[in-house]
Amino acid sequence: MSLSKQIEKIKCEFDIDFELLKSNKLNLLELKNKYLGRKGLINNLYLSFGKIPKEEKPKIGLKINELKHNITTKLIDNVDIKEDNNLNYDLTLPGKSFDVGSIHPITLIIDEIKSIFNRIGFSSIYGSEVDTDYYNFEALNIPEHHPARDMQDTFYIDKETLLRTHTSGSQIHYMNKNKPPIKILSPGRVYRNEDISVRSYCLFHQIEGLYVDENVSFSDLKGTLEYFAKEFFGNNIKTRFRPSYFPFTEPSAEMDVYWGLNSESDYRITKGTGWLEILGCGMVDPEVFKAVNYDINKVKGFAFGLGIERIAMLKYGIDDIRLLYEGDVRFLRQFKK
Ligand code: DAH
Repeated sequence: MSLSKQIEKIKCEFDIDFELLKSNKLNLLELKNKYLGRKGLINNLYLSFGKIPKEEKPKIGLKINELKHNITTKLIDNVDIKEDNNLNYDLTLPGKSFDVGSIHPITLIIDEIKSIFNRIGFSSIYGSEVDTDYYNFEALNIPEHHPARDMQDTFYIDKETLLRTHTSGSQIHYMNKNKPPIKILSPGRVYRNEDISVRSYCLFHQIEGLYVDENVSFSDLKGTLEYFAKEFFGNNIKTRFRPSYFPFTEPSAEMDVYWGLNSESDYRITKGTGWLEILGCGMVDPEVFKAVNYDINKVKGFAFGLGIERIAMLKYGIDDIRLLYEGDVRFLRQFKK
């Protein structure tokens, strides 16, 4: 058969095949191989093309090229639709979604607080959850037999090693390695051997803050924490400072925010006062500076410690602390942004 005739034949065959493809009776991949594959019909034509007389070449060459172009545009340009048709998909079905999870409410609060303090120059550091008695107590001016140790029921690993009961120890770790000025936050988990109930758990989260420089005053402390309360709870939040006691600060205070008495639960959580304690703070005790070899005549500082769970429970109206640790996706899904 002459090459011209072969071309005509392939053209007709392709038209038929293409109709079959459109009605799903043929598979796109097979057709591509049949016509455009390495050993396909078009390539065969090119092979025979080499053997025809020179004077026929321009005419025949043009025909083969035309045919190839026609087949390629039909098969390649329609790929997506045809391939889906071949698999018999219903293109109108909704796609499958996959679960990307959500950020845990504790992390949301920590991130928000970090970003508020970050705007006024505090950077974040992370201490270790397994620490020594020295960093957790001793260096923070809580010697053995000090009654303050009873405030925090400790999980001891051995006589010297423990699970930290607060993030305050990271103050010591950081000051040991760095010189003032210091402006840091240290968020993380802490552990206490407490009975598990709606309001308490054996682990929880705190954020420690520490600012040390030459001239740091109690009014800097108040200004910083009031700024934080306004940024976090909104401009209208009322705050108050009450004198308190912590071995590592002198003077010490606690900051309350006015939560109000609008509901029965407000009465319960504020013990009928409307005020809610959210953090402990104070001016760093000289004994703490001595422990890290700072010159107590030159530096001053303030520190504060904030419980995350309480704030998360307030912000999101969570009434059972245990929900925060159980990993129940029905609970966690609610925090999807
Ligand atoms: N570490 C204290 C606690 O766990 C909280 C605290 C109070 C931290 C006062 C401080 C501070 O830095 O100045 O109860």
